[in-house]
Amino acid sequence: MEKFFITTPIYYANGAPHIGHAYTTALADVLARFHELAGENVFFLTGTDEHGQKVADAAALAGVSPKTHCDGMVARFMHLWQMLDIRYSRFIRTTDEDHKIIVRKALQSLWEKGDIYKAEYEGWYCTPDERFWTEKDIIDGKCPDCGRPVAQITEANYFFRMSAYQQWLIDYIEQNPDFIQPSYRRNEILGFLRKPLNDLCISRPKKRLSWGIELPFDNDYVTYVWFDALINYITAIGAYTDQSSSATDFDARWKNAVHLIGKDILTTHAVYWPTMLRAMGFAMPKTIFAHGWWLVDEKKMGKSLGNAVDPQALVEALGADRMRYFLMREMVLGHDASYSLAALVQRLNNDLANDLGNMLSRVTNMIHSYFAGVLPACDTIRHEESRKLIEQTEKLHERVFENVHQLKLHAALEEVNAAIRAANAYIENTQPWKLAKSGETELLAEVLYVSAQLLAKVGILFSPVIPQKARAILDSLGYAGKIDTYAASTANILPVGSKITKPEALFPRLELADLEKALGFGKTETTDKNPKPQSHQGEAPEGTIITIDDFAKVKLVVGTITTAERAPKSDKLLLLKVNIGCETREVVAGIAKWYSPEELLGKTIILVRNLQPATIRGFKSEGMLLAADNGDTVSVLTLDRPLPAGSSIR
Ligand code: MSP
Repeated sequence: MEKFFITTPIYYANGAPHIGHAYTTALADVLARFHELAGENVFFLTGTDEHGQKVADAAALAGVSPKTHCDGMVARFMHLWQMLDIRYSRFIRTTDEDHKIIVRKALQSLWEKGDIYKAEYEGWYCTPDERFWTEKDIIDGKCPDCGRPVAQITEANYFFRMSAYQQWLIDYIEQNPDFIQPSYRRNEILGFLRKPLNDLCISRPKKRLSWGIELPFDNDYVTYVWFDALINYITAIGAYTDQSSSATDFDARWKNAVHLIGKDILTTHAVYWPTMLRAMGFAMPKTIFAHGWWLVDEKKMGKSLGNAVDPQALVEALGADRMRYFLMREMVLGHDASYSLAALVQRLNNDLANDLGNMLSRVTNMIHSYFAGVLPACDTIRHEESRKLIEQTEKLHERVFENVHQLKLHAALEEVNAAIRAANAYIENTQPWKLAKSGETELLAEVLYVSAQLLAKVGILFSPVIPQKARAILDSLGYAGKIDTYAASTANILPVGSKITKPEALFPRLELADLEKALGFGKTETTDKNPKPQSHQGEAPEGTIITIDDFAKVKLVVGTITTAERAPKSDKLLLLKVNIGCETREVVAGIAKWYSPEELLGKTIILVRNLQPATIRGFKSEGMLLAADNGDTVSVLTLDRPLPAGSSIR
């Protein structure tokens, strides 16, 4: 059985997951499932990148140890992946013991080989990005990557002799056109390699940063985060293991490895990583594929810009399948795509509610009305329209897999969509309701048989993207069998006599306004000049019983107060900024009588996340913090044990 290996970047554990992360991971999951459907043995790797300055800083801000901070973030990533129906083979953490061992083995081997050396470094350093820059790289004293100021530093460090592999890398990329994809990214890297390549600084002195893997040959230093992170890809499938059987296993998988990355991390993957692998004596992975960015208002979506969309809220509102479908279908793999709720609603309504949902309900309803819910037999094809449709869709699965293997996922999905549209047109053209009226039962049976078989094929071929709904489609068509290579390549998988059930509306139409409401958007003005403390507003009478569903509507989240000040001309109100993981909320709290701003700064609190935003005394308030109140005094609710901002409360 062919072995396939697919990876996502390991995400920094300094912040909560956002849509960009969700996209790459869903993409890897969809491709993994397609390869499984094609009969391959798949290993799908994702995880978190936990060492380095960024994570150490985020942990310090939250007032917890880096490991504790990472544990909290990992739980959030894993929870989101579960919600999105992601089936990874391993979730690797760079703090995992086996990974640390492999990193040290790799470093030791390069050290012994003379590919790592110590030298005095003098130059520019961007602290937030953890990158050294040369004089010619920096722009007006700023980092060319992030635009923040760089600092001049001098320190002894260890370097990887990357320059020694420059010519080899150029030759390799030229001889292996599929290695870096899409081709324009390959050209970009070849362009980059026209300039001389510097050696790579791979260490940080512990006195400056202790959160990392110690160098095996100098315990005053830790490994640079990228060197540590990239090695995750080979740790997970058993590099450097002694047993020869697993070494063979490693080779068989490694030669079919596909690294999915965003274009932001192309250089590290297409330059650092291949030269490191070469120096360590490993072959190259098959492909490094860089996809584009999700943009909001033309800007990259991400935590640093503060325009990140909370993927968890979106999956809660849409369900895993619709979210997966939107992400996969809306982005042409390789290019940037704009994210907007309006585009999302339109895409899902068109493709899923109208085309696919409509086709399924038409076919199942008619089989019910005309054949008592049992798939009729069809021995010969007589209708010209049937012949046309069969011919058009005969090679559907081959075309889909061909596109998937070339990483043209949008084209693969479009093949299936085109088949659905053709099937809807087929029904329009053959008008089965007329055939029923005129008593042409055999032709009627033929049309419904052909339609149902095609729908089943659509269910199978869409199963990597919308696994739950695909199963529901197949169930309603009476197919209880496996979704596997056999099913994917067999023309008529539904046996005559299959029991057809009418499905529940699988893809109800979405209304933009409803979705916005579910996500807590939309603002209202409160004109109340003298607001009561927020905790008293609209309280239900004592004794009111609520259901678990009522309670579930209230979304609570852990927040950290990052700024606090008195509201001008008010002895009651404080103006707070609260970090809730993926964003910062402005909150007006009526607790100035009991708390000074200084006391609140840095406090971990509990915030109602989905409260209708309001304007109080001209100040925006986007949430409410929880506090206990006995009539005399007020006590702000906090956590018993430290958990990072953004942790949810259930
Ligand atoms: N830790 C490194 C990767 C090490 S891999 C050996 C890192 N982490 S990250 O948390 O910043 O994640 C970057 C990845 O997240 C991108 O490469 C991409 O896969 C995904 N995305 C982040 N923002 C994105 C968009 N706005 N759009 C699409 N994907 C983006 O870099």
